[in-house]
Amino acid sequence: MIADRVSADEGVRLASFFKEVINWPGFKHAGSTADYWNWKYLHRPYSNSIGYAMWLNEEVLSHASLVTSQLLVENNIITAGQMGDLYTHPDYRGKGLAEHLLSSVENQAILDDIKLIFAFPSEIGCMIISKRGYKELPIKFSQYRFITDPSVFFKKVNFGSIKGLAYKAMTAARAPGRKSIPNMVKEVADIPEDIGNMTREFEMNFELCHRHDYQYLQWRYANPTGGYFKILVATDNGTTVGIIVLRPYIAKGIHYMEIVDFMSDLNRPEIIRSLLGESIALAKKEGISEIQTWIPSDHPFVSSLIQAGFISRPLSAGERGFRMFCHSRHDHDIVSKLLENDSLKAHIMLGDTDWI
Ligand SMILES: CC(C)(COP(=O)(O)OP(=O)(O)OC[C@H]1O[C@@H](n2cnc3c(N)ncnc32)[C@H](O)[C@@H]1OP(=O)(O)O)[C@@H](O)C(=O)NCCC(=O)NCCS
Repeated sequence: MIADRVSADEGVRLASFFKEVINWPGFKHAGSTADYWNWKYLHRPYSNSIGYAMWLNEEVLSHASLVTSQLLVENNIITAGQMGDLYTHPDYRGKGLAEHLLSSVENQAILDDIKLIFAFPSEIGCMIISKRGYKELPIKFSQYRFITDPSVFFKKVNFGSIKGLAYKAMTAARAPGRKSIPNMVKEVADIPEDIGNMTREFEMNFELCHRHDYQYLQWRYANPTGGYFKILVATDNGTTVGIIVLRPYIAKGIHYMEIVDFMSDLNRPEIIRSLLGESIALAKKEGISEIQTWIPSDHPFVSSLIQAGFISRPLSAGERGFRMFCHSRHDHDIVSKLLENDSLKAHIMLGDTDWI
């Protein structure tokens, strides 16, 4: 069997197969699954995607891919690739197909001068890529939550009314931490075109982050073909000074909202408070029970989240943790800079992953 490079016109066939067998991509978006495939693999800015698949008649036996994006490593822009959509048909597992396709993707990435390959793997994915020399980056991610209606929430999830009362008292005391400046934050349909100045300033504070320019953010969050997001923007005298991106979703009948991206002028806590305050107000208005966010535990926003009333949310048994791996045998200088750092100052959030 031979691994074939996926071409642009195979997207439709591949996408419908994925939709059938693994309910790909696993969340709501506008348009068809093929539209989503085109959005992800063909329309991504700065992307040169690499996909390999093995076919038997009309069925995909195995698939692996990588989408490129711009990462900032110590403020240098590098072309990096996120590995994803790894799948082997159940009847053909354990025969080395995934290994073979991963090698094909990695070899092509070297030819395409991709400096770093990274992934946010599942448990099985972790085992497979660790054997291939991928290593976990020294970033400890934590999840935080804000419960918008404690009386309903604590009844539903069986945490007990005492905890509910204590949580209510704590969030009431922390109201100043989510007080917003009137008219500073507005929900928008499109990313403001001047956003790149604010995001570039923000990114300078980190040793590792994604480059968030206007084109990327507009593609990522303002096109419903890629999923449904709510974008809140803070402005001051007509200039963009902060952004928060929210993703509503429902699980087991409970309405959640995830903060998937969050950037702001770090020297102005009132902007951060306003963005958090307006997110909480929006969640309450829309009947959302809980706001959640994954963020590195030493991120400067963590104290703002806690001051606004967010609490840490431990993972329950079997839940997928948030870990970032990179290929240790790629560009030596870049990889060793990242892996040898005791605690990498990173701005990586859910919006940077292929989970959503
Ligand atoms: C994960 C998956 C792609 C593996 O495909 P595969 O073609 O069976 O993998 P391979 O035969 O190439 O095996 C690759 C390596 O992973 C190991 N491996 C594969 N499946 C595994 C599993 N379920 N648990 C532990 N190790 C596993 C193999 O033992 C092999 O290592 P080895 O060469 O040292 O023996 C396939 O099981 C799958 O499609 N799972 C569902 C989707 C999924 O979880 N994707 C990963 C998302 S990050």
